[in-house]
Amino acid sequence: PLDLPFHNEPDTDWSLPHNVSWIQSHVRSAGFGRPGVDAPFVPLQIAGGFVEGAARVPASDPSQPDVKIYEHALASREQIELALATAVAARSSWRQSGFEARAGLLAKAAAVLASRRGEAIAAMVADAGKSVMEADAEFSEAIDFADYYARSFSEEWFDGSSFEPLGTVLITPPWNFPFAIPCGGVLAALVAGNTVILKPAPETVLTAWVMVNALWDAGIPREVLQFVPCPDDETGRALVTDPRIGAVVLTGAYETARMFLGWKPGLRLFAETSGKNALIVTAAADSDLAIKDLVKSAFGHAGQKCSAASLAILEAEIYDDPAFLRQLKDAAESLRVGGTGHFGSIVTPVIREPGAELLKALTTLDEGEEWLLEPRMVDGNPCLWSPGIKLGVTPESWFRRTECFGPVLGLVRADDLNDAIRIQNDSDFALTGGIHSLDPAEVERWKERVEVGNAYINRPITGAIVQRQPFGGWKRSCFGPGAKAGGPNYAAQFGTWRNQGLPT
Ligand code: ALA
Repeated sequence: PLDLPFHNEPDTDWSLPHNVSWIQSHVRSAGFGRPGVDAPFVPLQIAGGFVEGAARVPASDPSQPDVKIYEHALASREQIELALATAVAARSSWRQSGFEARAGLLAKAAAVLASRRGEAIAAMVADAGKSVMEADAEFSEAIDFADYYARSFSEEWFDGSSFEPLGTVLITPPWNFPFAIPCGGVLAALVAGNTVILKPAPETVLTAWVMVNALWDAGIPREVLQFVPCPDDETGRALVTDPRIGAVVLTGAYETARMFLGWKPGLRLFAETSGKNALIVTAAADSDLAIKDLVKSAFGHAGQKCSAASLAILEAEIYDDPAFLRQLKDAAESLRVGGTGHFGSIVTPVIREPGAELLKALTTLDEGEEWLLEPRMVDGNPCLWSPGIKLGVTPESWFRRTECFGPVLGLVRADDLNDAIRIQNDSDFALTGGIHSLDPAEVERWKERVEVGNAYINRPITGAIVQRQPFGGWKRSCFGPGAKAGGPNYAAQFGTWRNQGLPT
């Protein structure tokens, strides 16, 4: 398959009833959290063996925190030591196996993954509260990463130089893309010749487990890729700071990246961090399309994507148009809000009961703000919130400055496009951003000036696509060289080029 050109894996067609029945039977038969169904146990995988940890911790259904869905092991300091020693011992044979052999394993991984779509979606639905559609798209992205990174290295690059992997890479992914993000990070580091330790997000260990099993079954040696859930405290710190870790890949909060660097100044850190993303709508937009994309970007996965639209910057003519506001409100209000596994829900549970910032965003207004659509707690469940839209958000306000990670959208009024771009760029973060305008001159002006990692025109600002729209930010949304996930330089950052030093 590597002889054929890369193509993106298609998502499932949910307009076909048999696809809907197929996934419903997968979700049902997985049975997570159902009375009478034993909660599975997810072990560690260290030094090739599946083992108990120092502790077992329960994991709960995101929309019903008192329903246990599985238990998983947590590694002790001694087990982390064994994992590190194993990763070091496995380096040389993996490095020497060569790019072609490793690329072949990635291609095989893509095929094994493709045979497990139903199982993977069921895990993401149970574990992260994702909607089936969101989980399905994420799963396609995971296959894309495998297939794309398999093509990352070409023999002709090596004339007169060699590529040295970094050694052992630690992958610390987030809970909001619990399958695709660890899959991409792991495979990019592996294809470059590194051994890998995966520390999954504490909230979504099961999903990462389903993912790594597919990679081992494809033939990636277990010593080369170890699975080590561990506490975030001193144990996690010991892992991040260990000199045998050549690089850490983090997708998470800006503060977490800062904390890692505080623990270990000079750490080679590749991190994709926070965002506060905005979509501009000008008076030249197709307003129906803009509303559709805005709603999708703001409220898909309950707004819990680093790429989500948290702000809409509306040109005055749009902001002052009652018909636009009413349609936006109606579109958001009509989204189905539902708990874990509720087929067709768009606004799925927030992963845990809202913390202080999200709660503030959902329940309070600053001076001058008012609700266009006030969020409601649904069914008395603090994890289920209907969408909220705030009017009158100002460029200086708390909401404009704070990443809240939930189903709340703030509307900002801009005098004109220049003012809108100024407001959009006036942020510490720069992950995604978009514009809706059918005026090519406006779009050109915006393209030249917008300061975001992923700039989208007349489309949602979530849902980057491997190869076509590699993903990553700048400013405080990115640490490290900034190669984009799903883009041409991503895997190559996991090593250094060594010149062979021909005589002069
Ligand atoms: N890659 C994810 C997206 O683009 C974060 O939405």
